[in-house]
Amino acid sequence: MLYQATQDRIVEAAQSLRDGQLVAFPSETVYGLGADATSDAAIAAIYSAKRRPAHNPLIVHLAHASDADRYAILDLRAQTLAATLWPGPLTLVLPARPNNGISRHATANLPTIALRVPAHPVAHALLAAFDGPLAAPSANPSGLLSPTAAQHVARHFNDDANITILAGGASAIGLESTVLDLSVPEAVILRAGTITPEELEPLIGPVRFAAEGGDIKAPGQLTRHYATKTPLRLNAVDVKENEALLAFGDPKFIGVSGIGFARDMPEALYRNLSRAGDLHEAATNFYASLFELDQSGATAIAVMKIPPYGLGIALNDRLQRAATKE
Ligand code: TXA
Ligand code: MG
Repeated sequence: MLYQATQDRIVEAAQSLRDGQLVAFPSETVYGLGADATSDAAIAAIYSAKRRPAHNPLIVHLAHASDADRYAILDLRAQTLAATLWPGPLTLVLPARPNNGISRHATANLPTIALRVPAHPVAHALLAAFDGPLAAPSANPSGLLSPTAAQHVARHFNDDANITILAGGASAIGLESTVLDLSVPEAVILRAGTITPEELEPLIGPVRFAAEGGDIKAPGQLTRHYATKTPLRLNAVDVKENEALLAFGDPKFIGVSGIGFARDMPEALYRNLSRAGDLHEAATNFYASLFELDQSGATAIAVMKIPPYGLGIALNDRLQRAATKE
């Protein structure tokens, strides 16, 4: 069932969570599929609803940065980032505190735990009403597009009557949180996001990206992920017959087979992530644009090049995984 996230609905949803049910809720990054992180049965329900491999651990969400220390061991770097960037789109992978009460299934039996304090009024209100830790992966079946609107969640789980969806508008950031591994001496970004090394390094020193094929700790890495049903064609400089176009910036030099110019394409086949070439705007529009073009009936989606720096690193990471064949 889908409800507008009024305070009454949030209180009811918190009770459903206590009863072991799943509740999808908005966050500033993407919508999450929440469950009581201390309940083995509730965590099993997440893995089953998402058809997610059991070895892929979940992020545990907290209402306040000050709660983190109950579940994990925070060194000085973690304390600094928690104090500076939480609430916000940053997930920290930390050594788990022994006997922290979190279901072993939520952390896939790892000695570490991923923690995040979301910056969204509904996510915060739900965590506060539940008054405990919520495991919440993105609210999509494993491997598919992340939802940035309640309607996306409904489309993904339309046959699952057991999931309550709290609707709270479009996710402002639109890309999943940056996952930063601080359980090792050298800080490593396991998943790129809006929080970039440029933002982290002044606070904690050198940060590197996980090597492709090297330290794969976040099982989203390398495999097909964030995928549309329609194949993607990246770094496109033209649009072929029956293709849709996902543009970035001014598409005036993109030739469209049989039509001529991108500006003359039918509305159903054309989305622009950001006409102005703004990467933040592009991130906000990213998943919704892919959802829409995926419904268009096009044989492929031609995607214009997105610059490989700043937030472009996170966007290109998602596009590359989405374009990977099984
Ligand atoms: O923005 C987000 O992070 C969203 C919202 C709902 O908070 N959540 C999200 O969760 O994207 P999910 O499950 O789709 O992605 C979690 C990522 C996965 O790549 C997982 O492998 C990684 O975090 N992860 C979780 N626990 C980990 C751990 N202990 N060590 C390494 N990676 C971990
Ligand atoms: Mg996900």
